[in-house]
Amino acid sequence: MKKIYLYGNWKMNMLPEEGEEFCRSLADRISGRLYGSDCVDICLFPPFLAIPAVLKALPAGPVSAGAQDGYFEDRGAFTGAVSMAMVRSVGCSHVLVGHSERRHIFGETNEVVARKLEKALNSGLKTVLCFGETLEEREGGKTIQVVQDQLLSAFQSVPEVRARDLVLAYEPVWAIGTGKNASPDDAQEVCAFAAKLALEAFGSGSLIPVLYGGSVKDSNAAELLSRQDIHGALVGGASLKVDSFLAIYENYRKAFAG
Ligand code: PGA
Repeated sequence: MKKIYLYGNWKMNMLPEEGEEFCRSLADRISGRLYGSDCVDICLFPPFLAIPAVLKALPAGPVSAGAQDGYFEDRGAFTGAVSMAMVRSVGCSHVLVGHSERRHIFGETNEVVARKLEKALNSGLKTVLCFGETLEEREGGKTIQVVQDQLLSAFQSVPEVRARDLVLAYEPVWAIGTGKNASPDDAQEVCAFAAKLALEAFGSGSLIPVLYGGSVKDSNAAELLSRQDIHGALVGGASLKVDSFLAIYENYRKAFAG
C-alpha cells in the first residue's frame, strides 16, 4: 500500500494558541500503527506567526511543519517578506511555493515561482510546488499546456541534487475553496502528466510525489487518493479541524487498505 502525504494548508487562519491546541488534539489521535511513518507523512502549514507555537507543540510521529511561502532574496529591503533562510532557521522543514492564491491574488509569475523554488531547495527545505489551471483555461482546453508551462519553467531552476526534496501539488484553481473538486479521473490525468514531466526532467532516481488539492474532504478522499499517480492531498478548509483532516487519510485506509 502506498504511503499517503497529508498536507494541511491553514492559509490565513489560526492564532498561535489555536495552532497549539490543534497539535495537542492531533497528538491524541495519531498514536498507533495506522500512523506509522511508512504509511503517512503529515505536514502542517500554519501562518508565519503561528509557526513557532506549532513547532513547539508538534506531536511525535510523522508530523512536520512548514511555511506557506518564502521570498527568493536572503535579506534586505523587502518589506513584509520572509526569506527561505528565516523559514529554515525557526525549524521548518517544508515550504509551499506557487500556491494559486499567491499567483492570482499576489500576482506571482512563473518566473517568481521558479526563483522561490530554487532558493527554497538550496536552503534545504522540502518544497511543495503548486500548479494548476483556472476554470477559463480548463474550459478552453488549455489545461495540459498551462500545467506544462508552469512545471517546465519551475523545473529549470531545480538544482539536480535537490530534486529529491521536491513535492508537486496539482491544484486546479476552480476547485480551491469552492466545494467543487476535480473528478478523480481528471485529477489522475493531470497528476500522471506531472509525474511524467518530472521523470523526464529528473530521472527515476528522484521519486517525486504528486499531491492533489482542491476541496479535498473525507467524502471524496478515498476515490482521489486511490488513483495511481495521486500520492496525497494538499488540504485547505478541511485541515482546520483535526477530525476532518485525519478523516481524509482514515477514509482512504478504510476503503482500500482494510
Ligand atoms: P481547499 O484548499 O481544500 O480549501 O480547497 C486547498 C488549497 O488551497 O491548498
